[in-house]
Amino acid sequence: MLKTPLARRLPVWIEELGQIGRTEADGLWRTPYTPEDTQAQDAVAGWMRDAGLQVRRDAVGNLFGRLPGTTRPDEVILTGSHLDTVRNGGKYDGGLGILAGIVMLAEVLETSGRPARSLEVVALVGEEGSRFPLAFIGSKAITGELSPEELEIRDAEGISIAQAMRGVGLDPSRIQEARRSDLRGFLEFHIEQGRILQDQGYPLGIVHTITGIKQARVLVDGRPDHAGTTPMTSRRDAMLGAAEMVLRIAEQITALGHPAVATTGRLQARPGGVNVVAEQVEFTVDFRHPDPAVLERMAAMIRGTCDEVAHRRGLGATLHVFLEHPPVPMSPEVQAALQASAEELGLKTLSMASGAGHDAMVLAGRVPVGMLFVPSREGRSHCPDEFTPEGEIVPGLAVLARTLHRLATV
Ligand code: GLV
Ligand code: MN
Ligand code: MN
Repeated sequence: MLKTPLARRLPVWIEELGQIGRTEADGLWRTPYTPEDTQAQDAVAGWMRDAGLQVRRDAVGNLFGRLPGTTRPDEVILTGSHLDTVRNGGKYDGGLGILAGIVMLAEVLETSGRPARSLEVVALVGEEGSRFPLAFIGSKAITGELSPEELEIRDAEGISIAQAMRGVGLDPSRIQEARRSDLRGFLEFHIEQGRILQDQGYPLGIVHTITGIKQARVLVDGRPDHAGTTPMTSRRDAMLGAAEMVLRIAEQITALGHPAVATTGRLQARPGGVNVVAEQVEFTVDFRHPDPAVLERMAAMIRGTCDEVAHRRGLGATLHVFLEHPPVPMSPEVQAALQASAEELGLKTLSMASGAGHDAMVLAGRVPVGMLFVPSREGRSHCPDEFTPEGEIVPGLAVLARTLHRLATV
C-alpha cells in the first residue's frame, strides 16, 4: 500500500519519540518549553530532514517541515498534531499524527512528485494544557488568538509561559509572527482514543464534529475543625460536600447517556491535615457533548447540583468555567476528500464525533479542517497502555497520503 522505505521507519520513530519524557510509571510526560520538549523537537526536526523537508520553528515554538508546491507554493495544506502529552500519557496521542505526516509527505513526493500547493507537517506546541493550565498554545498562535495576557499564565512552579519561552530561546513579544494566513487546509491524523472503531469493526473514522468541551473549577467552602472532638452532626465539612457533588454530577451525567461525559480528575483539600476537617476543597469538572444545547443543559445541571448540595450542608460553593469550546463541525469538503480516498483504496469508514479535543478545533475557525482516526486498542488513551498496532495504522496512512495529495493538487 505504501511505497517509500521511510514508512517502515514509522514504528521505530514511535518508539524513539516514546522514550523522550519517560516517567517512572512507564508513561510519558512531555510538556512545552522543557528539556524533553527540546529533545523531542530535535529528533522530529532530524526526521523531517531525512524526509527531504525544509525545517523551521515559528515564534511560539511550533516546528514545521515543508514540501514546497510547484505552481501555488503560497497556498499550504497542513498536517500534523501536538508534541506534548498529558501527565503519564501514551506514545500515540499527538506523536502519531506528526510522525505519520512526515512519512506521508515523503510518500507523496516519492509517488507523485511535488504537488501544486505546498504541503507542511507540524509538531504543535502545548495542546494538552498539562504544564500550564492553557490548552492549544501552538494552534492559537497560528490563528492569532494567543494573547499576551495568556502568556502570563503560570505552571505549578510559578513559571509563566513567557518566562518558559525565553528559557528555550523564544521571544514572547513576537508571538504574532506565528500567525498564518496561507493555510488552505488542515488534516489531523490521530488515534481515536475511544473504542467505537474497534467495537463496530471499522478500520477508519472520519470526524464530522469535535465534541463541545467545558472545564470548570468548583470551590467548596466549609469550616476547619478538630477531627477528634467535633461531632459528625455539627461539622461543615468541605470534603463531604465535594464528595457528594462529584458523585451526584457523575450520576446525573450518566443518566443522560453516552456521549455525555463528566470527569473530576483533580481534587485538592485545604488545609490538608489528616486530623483537620477540610475547610476548603477545590475540584475540577471536565464535561463534554457534541450537541451545544445538551452541553448547556449539562452546565446548568452541574451548577444546580453544586448549589443544592452546598446549601443543604451549610457550605459555600462557587463554580468558575475556565475553558469553553463549543462543538466544532469539520469541513464537508475535507470529509468528502477523505471519504473519496478511502473508497479508492476499498476501505470502510465510519463518520463519527470526536470525544477528545484537538488543535483541529482551533484551526477550524479559520481553515477547512478534517480529522482521520485509526482505532485505539481497547479504547485506552491518556495512559501508558495507549496502543495501535502497525497493521491498523497503515490503512490510515494510505488515506492520509492520498487526501493530502488531493487537497494540494486542486
Ligand atoms: C485532549 O486530549 C482532550 O480531549 O482533553
Ligand atoms: Mn490528549
Ligand atoms: Mn491529541
